[in-house]
Amino acid sequence: MPKMIFVERDGQAREVEAPLGLSVLEVAHKHGVDIEGACEGSLACSTCHVIVDQAWFNKLTPPTEDEEDMLDVAFGLEKTSRLGCQIVITEALDGLTVRLPASKKAG
Ligand code: FES
Repeated sequence: MPKMIFVERDGQAREVEAPLGLSVLEVAHKHGVDIEGACEGSLACSTCHVIVDQAWFNKLTPPTEDEEDMLDVAFGLEKTSRLGCQIVITEALDGLTVRLPASKKAG
């Protein structure tokens, strides 16, 4: 099973199992990683914001316009920011590393 790594707000890296077909948000919830995901993946919030490791960013399917719009209002936006509910785990993403934004306060 693919694995992914969450870098928590205190800088601790946590490696967890990431079942194929789940979103990064779902993987986080399954393992008690502190990502809110208020709208459960319907692109109506930005509380599932994660910052993708640079090396992985280009391997992801590019964001849709709707995702870009939500990211625009995300708190602590960075160049490799994505919405966790829009990244779906595939074999190619085994080892995917994402960081939680510094604050939970998101648009
Ligand atoms: S959970 Fe709301 S946009 Fe991802």
